[in-house]
Amino acid sequence: MMLTEQLTAIVSDAFEACGYDRSLGTVTVSDRPELCQFQCNGAFGGAKLHRKAPAMIANDVAAKLTENPLFAKAEVAMPGFLNLTLTDAAIAQMAMDVANGERTLVEQSGAGKTAIVDYGGPNVAKPLHIGHLRPAIIGEAIKRLCKASGYRTIGDIHLGDWGLQIGLVIAELRERHPEWRVFAADFDDATDSVPELDVELLQEVYPFASGKSKQDDAFKVAAQQATYELQSGRAGFMALWKEIMRVSVADLKENYNRLNVFYELWYGESDAEHYVGQLVDTLKEQGLLRESDGALVVDLATEEDTAPMPPVIIKKSDNSSLYATTDLATIIQRQQDYAPDKIWYVVDKRQSLHFDQVFRCAKKAGLVPAECDLKHLGFGTINGADGKPFKTRDGGVMQLRVLIDTVTEAAMEKLKNSDYLNSLSDEEKRAVAEKVGVAAIKFGDLINHRAKDYIFDMDKFLSFEGKTGTYLLYNITRIHSVLKKVDAPADSPIVITEDAERELVLKLLLTPEAFAKALSEQAPNLVCENAYLIAQAFSKMYHDCPVANEDDAQKRASRVALCRLTRDVLLMHLDVLGIEAVENM
Ligand code: ARG
Repeated sequence: MMLTEQLTAIVSDAFEACGYDRSLGTVTVSDRPELCQFQCNGAFGGAKLHRKAPAMIANDVAAKLTENPLFAKAEVAMPGFLNLTLTDAAIAQMAMDVANGERTLVEQSGAGKTAIVDYGGPNVAKPLHIGHLRPAIIGEAIKRLCKASGYRTIGDIHLGDWGLQIGLVIAELRERHPEWRVFAADFDDATDSVPELDVELLQEVYPFASGKSKQDDAFKVAAQQATYELQSGRAGFMALWKEIMRVSVADLKENYNRLNVFYELWYGESDAEHYVGQLVDTLKEQGLLRESDGALVVDLATEEDTAPMPPVIIKKSDNSSLYATTDLATIIQRQQDYAPDKIWYVVDKRQSLHFDQVFRCAKKAGLVPAECDLKHLGFGTINGADGKPFKTRDGGVMQLRVLIDTVTEAAMEKLKNSDYLNSLSDEEKRAVAEKVGVAAIKFGDLINHRAKDYIFDMDKFLSFEGKTGTYLLYNITRIHSVLKKVDAPADSPIVITEDAERELVLKLLLTPEAFAKALSEQAPNLVCENAYLIAQAFSKMYHDCPVANEDDAQKRASRVALCRLTRDVLLMHLDVLGIEAVENM
């Protein structure tokens, strides 16, 4: 049970024991920390309910709570606030319980349930760029948040691997290499060879072909035709597509790995193709499909709609599938394979209408049970200093690998006076700098509510002060270095003697509240905020309370225990955020 829930139960009992309604006993963290740690404002609601002055009610309840040894203070502040402070012994014991694993740090609200998180969604054949940063970072954090909360989690990349972008690449390669056997009408999988491609080639071909299709109508038609033939299963094109996929996926994995982003499933729109028939049949059986200018659509508008809700197109007049078709077919697949309790989509917020349509259609057709939680978790844009979408100096889109290299360089520069880094080999130094740089951009992203746009500011993200990844990593290295200097038995009791220790313990104990809220609002920024509060409280305790230099053996051992606990709790936060810590920096 979370601390505020535990206190709510106690205070509710006290209300009841005094003859008042127990629903009045809700306890929250104090908004006046200088007065008390927790508060309950139930006496005001009680005044109406029981026709009595709030102060009288609060006094009764306070008197009752004073009997409980958990409270150092249970006081009434006029006109009827109940101010609560716990004893140091009580919170120290709770902290030890956390350290022993007897008190949970994250409520297991997802136990026995399955969550699928659909995030990333890059279109293959195009290089990953800065626009792919947010879905990867936020999606990974949300998936890990679900996992920490007890869910069985499945992250699916949902590659855009079946659309026109592939047709463009095939059409362009065909113009360049008409002699390749994959383009022959009689291509034979068993005997013909497939050319070996590489990322550099794909990364050059795609933008080239895309640009060309905008000027050259004949080429555009050829690319559409190639897409159509691929989707109809033309053998040579399928073989070439597989090669494009092999190269792209290897490259994607390498880039996502550097970001500490890992997928359980590497499915794509192409995999949904197998379920499109089933989708159409289901919609037909239910009488939901309607013909409109040769296309097949499903009407979704309801009387409650205040904004226009267009029908969703399932099949175009040429029988081809659309974006919504593959998303719906994928829902069938996910339901069959995992029967998930939720499917959360971490996708650009500008796609909200698309997901609205997909979810309505899925529920209407019963592709998932009514209680399945389908949600679009939209995110905002990364802007440059000018407030417009981030561009490179020459006005281009920054590739992800270049971005990671750039932040690594910036982190190297930032840490150029670090004795530790300078003691390492160049390769080791780079590895630490990359971790610091990636932590900086990930935290710099995640600290913003996902739906907000934010400004990409490398200097700010790498700062040792404020809400930054660097600040967090740095504080963890400080804990590591203290713990290297001084040791204490694993079961050393925590004893609170200083204000800074009490503050730190309280912050640690409120972690479950922060995680529960982060999950219910799908807001990893709340995990960032909590990590920052803990790091800040640690920093204060580190400043105020000697550890290695403390003469009193019991105090010293207690502080070591507190340092260890803080380190573990902070590492747990970072793990959920998908950020790797460093030993030293
Ligand atoms: N590939 C899509 C795009 O580039 C994003 C996919 C998002 N996921 C989904 N299930 N639709 O816009």
